[in-house]
Amino acid sequence: MANVRQDHPVLAALAARALEFITDGSVVGLGTGRAAAAFVHALGDRVRRGLRVHGVPTSEATATLAQTYGIPLLTLDEVDQIDVTVDGADEVDPHLDLIKGYGGALVREKVVAAASRTEIIVIGSEKLVPVLGQRGILPVEVLPFALGLCKRRLAAVGCRPAVRCSEGRPFLSDSGNYILDCGVEPLHQPRQLEDAIRAIPGVVGTGLFLGIADVVLVGEDDGTVREMCRPPGVHLRGRPA
Ligand code: A5P
Repeated sequence: MANVRQDHPVLAALAARALEFITDGSVVGLGTGRAAAAFVHALGDRVRRGLRVHGVPTSEATATLAQTYGIPLLTLDEVDQIDVTVDGADEVDPHLDLIKGYGGALVREKVVAAASRTEIIVIGSEKLVPVLGQRGILPVEVLPFALGLCKRRLAAVGCRPAVRCSEGRPFLSDSGNYILDCGVEPLHQPRQLEDAIRAIPGVVGTGLFLGIADVVLVGEDDGTVREMCRPPGVHLRGRPA
């Protein structure tokens, strides 16, 4: 198994900082992607040395990784609330709003985030953008049955949907759905677009994570980690404090 500390010092530094949010006995949401995997490696090391936690994975890949360390896993049905979730992101704007889903786990990630008291995002500084949509892609997960309708309706709200493929076939999410990578311009009204897309029958979820992140840990190339926090009291998704 890759040694994250040696292979990627920025991700290792992020993982170490994220670990500071984890206390003995907590339930931890486990994100998907490289940065989240680095955290799972670090958490796994701590579990092997006696830390007692339970994990709730956001993907089958993350579940498999966590199991290699013996991190005990729970399903969402088995927990009332997740204490802390650590996940990655593809874009982060100055309001701590996000685009996620380049790894295809966006819907499970959003569900786990919604069940979490604290959502911590770990990114390299290259993921910081002034306006969401800067990298030009917004992933949207759709039911295969609704593909044609979703593509037409997404085009009608200004997106340019393309079915994500892997090895010559449509990529399937862990829930068996398609991902439409929607070409977008910078999103100056992300909430409006989120509402418009979610109103399309057959859309399961979007990669827009608005008002969800509480803390963003930003790894710099020199190995330092900067912490960005949502202002106190600003919990746009209305979760309990
Ligand atoms: C998975 O669906 C994504 O939301 C990832 O969290 C996101 O793509 C970040 O992944 P990396 O840490 O691999 O860049």
